[in-house]
Amino acid sequence: MGLIPDDTIAEIRARADIVAVIGRHVELKKAGRNHKGLCPFHQENSPSFNVNTDKGFYYCFGCQQKGDVFSFVMEFEGKSFVEAAESLAHMLGILIPETNSSQESTALRHSEKSKMLEINKLASEFFRGQLLGAGGQKARDYLDTRGIGSEQSETFQLGFAPAEWRALGDFIEARGADIRVAEQVGLVIKQPNKSGHYDRFRDRLMCPIFQTSGDIVGFSGRLLATGQEADKAGAKYINSPESAIYKKSKLLYGILQARDAFRSEEHAILVEGNFDVVRLHEHGFKQTVAPLGTALTDAQALQLKRLTGQVYLLYDGDRAERAATLKGLQTLLSQEVSVKIATLPLGEDPDSLIGKEGPEALKRILARAQPAIEYFIHEVWVHADRSAEGRAKTLEESAQVLRYIKEPTQRDFAIGTFATALGVDEATLRRGLRRAFQSFRDKSQMHRGTPGEKTPEQNAPQRPQKPPPGLQLDIICILAEFPELLGVAEEGDVFSNLSDTRLREMYEAAREGKPMLSVTSDPNIAKALLSGAFAGVESPRHCLEESISTLKREGRTRKLRELQVQVEEAGRRRDSDLERQLVSEIIAIRKQVD
Ligand code: CTP
Ligand code: MN
Repeated sequence: MGLIPDDTIAEIRARADIVAVIGRHVELKKAGRNHKGLCPFHQENSPSFNVNTDKGFYYCFGCQQKGDVFSFVMEFEGKSFVEAAESLAHMLGILIPETNSSQESTALRHSEKSKMLEINKLASEFFRGQLLGAGGQKARDYLDTRGIGSEQSETFQLGFAPAEWRALGDFIEARGADIRVAEQVGLVIKQPNKSGHYDRFRDRLMCPIFQTSGDIVGFSGRLLATGQEADKAGAKYINSPESAIYKKSKLLYGILQARDAFRSEEHAILVEGNFDVVRLHEHGFKQTVAPLGTALTDAQALQLKRLTGQVYLLYDGDRAERAATLKGLQTLLSQEVSVKIATLPLGEDPDSLIGKEGPEALKRILARAQPAIEYFIHEVWVHADRSAEGRAKTLEESAQVLRYIKEPTQRDFAIGTFATALGVDEATLRRGLRRAFQSFRDKSQMHRGTPGEKTPEQNAPQRPQKPPPGLQLDIICILAEFPELLGVAEEGDVFSNLSDTRLREMYEAAREGKPMLSVTSDPNIAKALLSGAFAGVESPRHCLEESISTLKREGRTRKLRELQVQVEEAGRRRDSDLERQLVSEIIAIRKQVD
């Protein structure tokens, strides 16, 4: 969809009744010249959401959300400006002139789309009636066995397509609706070489696929038959075919039902299956959606980004999961969505986990979710082939993810950790990454170059200076001179970073309020203490803090070196549990930035 002319925008703005547009989603009451209701953008019990008809805007006193009809549709339905304008124009019957097609065909398309949506609505009513009616016992039993109650069945408008060839077709014709439209949306299929149609969905549990507007754009039908019967019945899921209204790559199952919870929970949970969605909603995780059986697309990631700040990836715990997760993670990162990865036990999906261990187990798994980059580092580490060739491949893979991490601190953290993980020094890794980034740029001419973008090399922090010898002694000397700074030292956890036993003893003495000189027999230490080298410093506190942070950095470097040796050893023994644990330690240490 191209640009929309300004006068069309103006016409939409002028003709759209903001109370009617918002009123489709929010119950509004007249209050003086304004309308009032419960704000759809935050949780509240008394109305602070105001709509001003004269000025055509809304404002919430509770959360300060404000805007006009366009921004309402964008915010509420997670649409771009153009999409919002299109949907408003559609509602108002305004034609958006297009360069590549005549107005007439646009008008036709609009009315065609409306008809298609209407027929889906009609079909959904039919399926729903079948589920609740006498013939729906089998489907209702099935929902029971899958732990889905009547509330979710209603919320998701689940239905049942009977095991007949013409049930829906007859219903549509009896209602006087156009069977050709039903064919367009793929509800019925034209008989080859014959007149007449047959139903696409037979003997299936029907899940309507909603958009945030509330329109039903298609269906996903799950097989009910089991055993031999199932073999004849075809795929586990049959979905609506692509059409003018059904674009699988742009849809998320559950988005209408999840949208409010995206806001209140401030995140979305992304699962793989439709049943995972319904089951999670059943157990209060109403912020759950799923792509319709495909790898996550940019369009889906973008919609999530518009509706919420953070996404938890909760993919099935199987072998294929790693690839799917990595792909999903890259897609989300490329759209600048913040991602966390929750890992399920092998062989479980969210639905089965809830069945076996209850929703609390899922809560715990979500609470333990790893930020994308940490997950990725683990993956790189555990699967890394440490041969020269393997390293090159891992580097390429790492670069694929690192390119999306723009925030310098995070990026430095990631690069540093990767370097340790791969057993290369940071400078080498940065050089390798620069080459990889360059090749991405060469490969994709489409990539709109951001000339100001810094390479990781340029983002490199200043290398820590080699600490002066006797750093630990310096700290002790400062404390001897200024005992009142002991609190600072305690807070900085100096004790656990003192490797020299004599100095440790002295520090312990200081803790007990004894003069440090009293516990030392080493003449050199005593001399240093008595020299008063720090007596005249301008800010002893600052001096101490600096020394502590250098001490810690030294400690971390030492610890990282030890861990690296251990992890290589674990790698040789193929002990991946130990590897994982060691990598976690490395990540934890890397995270401690002063
Ligand atoms: N899917 C599909 N076509 C198939 C199989 C799967 O479109 N033949 C899509 C569906 O949207 C499905 C999702 O992929 O929800 C994930 O598949 P799967 O994990 O097999 O389905 P579940 O929804 O978990 O179904 P169930 O638990 O009933 O096996
Ligand atoms: Mn499943």
